[in-house]
Amino acid sequence: MTKEFSDVYNRKKKYFENKVFPVLNKSSFYDSPASLQIAASYSVKAGGKRLRPVLAMEASRIAGMDEEKSLYLAVAVEMLHTYSLIHDDLPAMDNDDYRRGQKTCHKKHGEAMAILAGDALQAVAFELVALGNFTPEVIRFFGASVGFNGMAGGQALDMDHGQYERHEEVLRWMHRLKTGHLIEFSVAAPFLDVLSRMFPDYTRREPHENPEVMEYKSKVTKIRNWALKLGELFQMTDDLLDHSGTLEELGKTPGKDNAQDKLTYISLLGVEKTRDRAEHFGADLTKKATQYFPDSVLFQELPQYIINRKN
Ligand code: IPE
Ligand code: IPE
Ligand code: MG
Ligand code: MG
Ligand code: MG
Repeated sequence: MTKEFSDVYNRKKKYFENKVFPVLNKSSFYDSPASLQIAASYSVKAGGKRLRPVLAMEASRIAGMDEEKSLYLAVAVEMLHTYSLIHDDLPAMDNDDYRRGQKTCHKKHGEAMAILAGDALQAVAFELVALGNFTPEVIRFFGASVGFNGMAGGQALDMDHGQYERHEEVLRWMHRLKTGHLIEFSVAAPFLDVLSRMFPDYTRREPHENPEVMEYKSKVTKIRNWALKLGELFQMTDDLLDHSGTLEELGKTPGKDNAQDKLTYISLLGVEKTRDRAEHFGADLTKKATQYFPDSVLFQELPQYIINRKN
């Protein structure tokens, strides 16, 4: 990665980490029951790459959104993501003991508090999007990205993939749902907010007579497809890291996918072909990023960062 990429990424990550609790405290998180706050804060503070908030903040900058509003979005996507990790680690799901370099939430605070911390983090994520005054279209997009046909649906496929054929299309479907759509939302929400504000009737089915609307709509579609594919690349490399990483590097237990007979790129195609797929996806994403985001070193180098990452 270039120094410019690392500088921008790390600056945004740090900025987010300084703001996360001040922003959370503007919501009903403030003054809530201590046991719940402590369990949720434990997982939020543990860190991680903060990929989704970094994506949201960069997309907001490109879309011309003001900083305060962009922070609500950044915190919302990270809270939603943190909830998904806490629940993913529960004994009923992947049954993991380590996450983000420390004991999982349920190991530290008990299952009841971990379930409730996840529930409350999901709710506060929606509260934050509303506090940021995002349009109903954006709130709908958020719900769709993480609910039945989004993250939760993907997690359901992950748990009962045995019901489906072991086929790459099933795997891609699962990856798009469990990981892709939240990443898509993190990047595309600022652009959809602009679109639905500038052109409130943009969803009309017949061709729009206003070329400006048509152009912005097609830009949003392209950005959504780009970010969804970035999400697929991210889960592909997560599968690779589960196979080859260490507990120290990952901050979570490796080798779980194989032990639990998960449907992953590795179990379906093996390491070499998975690496080829990742390179292929990365090259396409990088090429498109130079067209769609000409002034964003961050988005242009992200695909390669995702491929090379060690955690
Ligand atoms: C892990 O997400 C779960 C997936 C969706 C692959 P991350 O790899 O983004 O986890 P953190 O936020 O850095 O801990
Ligand atoms: C989880 O995928 C995706 C989520 C929606 C949380 P994994 O189960 O592979 O994530 P890790 O490897 O535990 O982080
Ligand atoms: Mg899982
Ligand atoms: Mg897991
Ligand atoms: Mg994994």
